[in-house]
Amino acid sequence: MGGRHLLAIDQGTTSTRAILFGEDGSPRFEARRELRQIYPAQGWVEHDGEEIWTATLEVAREVLGASGISAREVAAIGITNQRETTCVWERRTGRLLHHAIVWQDRRTAETCARLRAAGAEAMVAAKTGLLIDPYFSGTKLAWILDHVPEARHLAARGELAFGTIDSFLLWRLTGGRVHATDATNAARTLLFDINTQKWDQGLLDLIDVPANVLPEVRDCAGDFGETEPGLFGAAIAIRGIAGDQQSAAIGQACFAPGSIKATYGTGCFVLVNTGDAPIASHHRLLSTVALRQAGRPSFALEGSIFVAGAAVQWLRDGLRLFKGAAETEALARAARPDSAVYMVPAFTGLGAPHWNPDARGAILGLTRDTGIAEIVRATLEAIAFQTRDLIEAIGNDLAEQGRPRPASLRVDGGMVVNDWAMQFLADMLGIPVERPKVTETTALGAAFLAGLGAGIYKSTDDLARTWALDRRFEPRMSAPERADRWAGWQQAVARVVSRP
Ligand code: G3P
Repeated sequence: MGGRHLLAIDQGTTSTRAILFGEDGSPRFEARRELRQIYPAQGWVEHDGEEIWTATLEVAREVLGASGISAREVAAIGITNQRETTCVWERRTGRLLHHAIVWQDRRTAETCARLRAAGAEAMVAAKTGLLIDPYFSGTKLAWILDHVPEARHLAARGELAFGTIDSFLLWRLTGGRVHATDATNAARTLLFDINTQKWDQGLLDLIDVPANVLPEVRDCAGDFGETEPGLFGAAIAIRGIAGDQQSAAIGQACFAPGSIKATYGTGCFVLVNTGDAPIASHHRLLSTVALRQAGRPSFALEGSIFVAGAAVQWLRDGLRLFKGAAETEALARAARPDSAVYMVPAFTGLGAPHWNPDARGAILGLTRDTGIAEIVRATLEAIAFQTRDLIEAIGNDLAEQGRPRPASLRVDGGMVVNDWAMQFLADMLGIPVERPKVTETTALGAAFLAGLGAGIYKSTDDLARTWALDRRFEPRMSAPERADRWAGWQQAVARVVSRP
């Protein structure tokens, strides 16, 4: 093994990608497969784990083939993944017991309501930094154990393994030799105490999960084993793992306390680094592991919005309002300036700071002259309004700790190429929005971790030096207009969360 190239595997909600990076952090080759979304019932979302595995092999092989770089010239693989999505497989055969239950899936809403009613929320928040919500893996894992015949029985005999997607891919890539995850993924399960950095028996008892199904929790950069030699022609070292939002924060070089990023993918996730101690949120945000190196965790406050890019995708594929997301910029610019249409994309409930799994989407303020352009603009605006919800909550938590509020925001993900949306975001937040040159920061973060784990980079300072600005969007909107638009959004949200 050797070489100086780094191979990032980015297994996201809607696609599986492999990107080959040079050690300078520049992306060289990319391959991608769309991932089928399975909706077995209202509010349920699943993925076929076998499809994920096949796609992972295909994209990794495609990138190596296209680049002409052999497995021996790859220094290490880094894996980053959609977080919380839950897999259970049989240790002996590797057979998955059930489709992966996706982070967006709401089937355990009642279980969560019961746990909250039993008064468990304070204990869970203190240990995990999370709220009791179907979003996280724990109740999804218990659901599989309870609903697949024989699953509890097999688990009792030590024959089952649980993992988030990183862990499942690691198991398959290493030919079943390594059952591990990293601290950022473990932190999203509701079963892991972020203070002690250990699985917690009290949480396991509460959610009814046996300890013997759990993976070993390791640092984000380090030894995760080697790939089976037969998969890529030679064994490749696996040296980095992180959940995709933490990986994006690493790719955005958010290592200093106070540094903050927003990633626009299926959802939108804002993470602010809070240093070496978790902050307990008073504004319904999550406290989570940002990175763990040499056993030492650093932490982040996180605001999670479930639907961002997915709303644009719905306009394209569900309503067929346009053919490609690239058209949304021109449509938004063409919308009637006086339109007061609001779109609340609560397709799978509302995440932070509302945490309302029962809320559903709405388009409000329609008039006879509302057209495609106005609906598109309202959707892009909704993503900015939701980001402001998060930035306000984050600012309040930080201010209560005597820390400064965010003074600018680094952005990444597919949607940030849309200049209109980024300008509106800056206008709504009232702070500058910074778009980096490399917007593939999620995959870049995984490559960085692999490079750290393989000894190509010495420290996170080496990584921070590679960050470069593409464009900075300064807020331009007048204060009264900003306040007016914001008030309209809040009224729209109130309409979807209130119940009859
Ligand atoms: O927590 C869910 C998140 O990790 C999914 O990210 O990029 O697939 O929308 P993404």
